[in-house]
Amino acid sequence: MPRPGKPPAGLVRAPVSAYPSRVIEIGSVAGMRSAAQANHVQGKRIGFVPTMGFLHQGHLSLVREARRRSDVVVMSIFVNPLQFAPNEDLATYPRDIERDRRLAQEAGVDVLFVPGADDMYPGTPEITVSPGPVGTILEGAIRPTHFAGVLTVVLKLFAIVQPSVAVFGRKDAQQAALIGFMVRDLSLPVEVVIAPTFREPDGLAMSSRNVYLDAAMRERALILPRALAAGAAAHQSGERRAGQVVAAAYRVLAPAESSGGIITEYINVVDPKTFLPNHAATPGSFLVAAIRVGPKRLIDNVVLGDGLETDPRAAPVG
Ligand code: PAJ
Repeated sequence: MPRPGKPPAGLVRAPVSAYPSRVIEIGSVAGMRSAAQANHVQGKRIGFVPTMGFLHQGHLSLVREARRRSDVVVMSIFVNPLQFAPNEDLATYPRDIERDRRLAQEAGVDVLFVPGADDMYPGTPEITVSPGPVGTILEGAIRPTHFAGVLTVVLKLFAIVQPSVAVFGRKDAQQAALIGFMVRDLSLPVEVVIAPTFREPDGLAMSSRNVYLDAAMRERALILPRALAAGAAAHQSGERRAGQVVAAAYRVLAPAESSGGIITEYINVVDPKTFLPNHAATPGSFLVAAIRVGPKRLIDNVVLGDGLETDPRAAPVG
């Protein structure tokens, strides 16, 4: 005789969380602001995951992290024109809102905030956030207006969504570091959490832009995680000179670079907080790199001491 509440043998009852209630979608800045205020009145902590959509498992891992730390999870989907240079891929950035809605709901997002560009930017902004010196190196040297666009939209989203905690990916480590600086320097009342990089089984870091890679380019792209793994392995075997860690990684890239298969844009060991180049590859430093595969750019990084495995911990910044 089966006990009450226990499914009969042979039948497995799906966990309740497999069928979450419908995600609430909000399309306006004013609507999101009142939803945030209503949650605050009820004493609820809002956890926030800003994205540009075309969701993948990396984004969804941030949702899980936000759920652990809050009562209500808000995800924004907004392809922010301000962070794209005129020669970049704003018009062709991958979009699939139907699929995003489904994935967000399955991952346990409570509120999906999908504002329009005119609502977010009623006019060309007069005031933007200046990223400071760290915004001018590495990614900032290659994309000079990018981080001002990112920080401006993240500050606006914080003002609208009013989260207690916001989760970002270490995949974009320089972006995450700059957001940490912005929160500190502008005294924003938000805890910033950085979650580990989610990878495909073959090591490629997940990215919405990976759809741009055809099969041959995707195969060539694998050289990036392999090079980072080689740098991390050199560190693992005791190498503490940043130049030598970089050299170990570059030995993997060099043959493909000589044959014209890739171009290395940068590869550096940096301090995880300041993002300035480190001479000593101390444990916890980041080995960061960007390569070009044909016309496409890829960025990735590894935390020295952790290797390429997805790190189960997510560390607060600051
Ligand atoms: P997007 O590229 O959509 O990324 C949204 C968030 O997901 C960022 O915090 C990013 O670092 C994180 N992420 C991306 N790939 C990841 C992976 N493989 N593993 C873990 N996290 C990953 O980054 C942006 O959008 C925008 O610049 C944004 C912050 C939303 C401002 O417009």
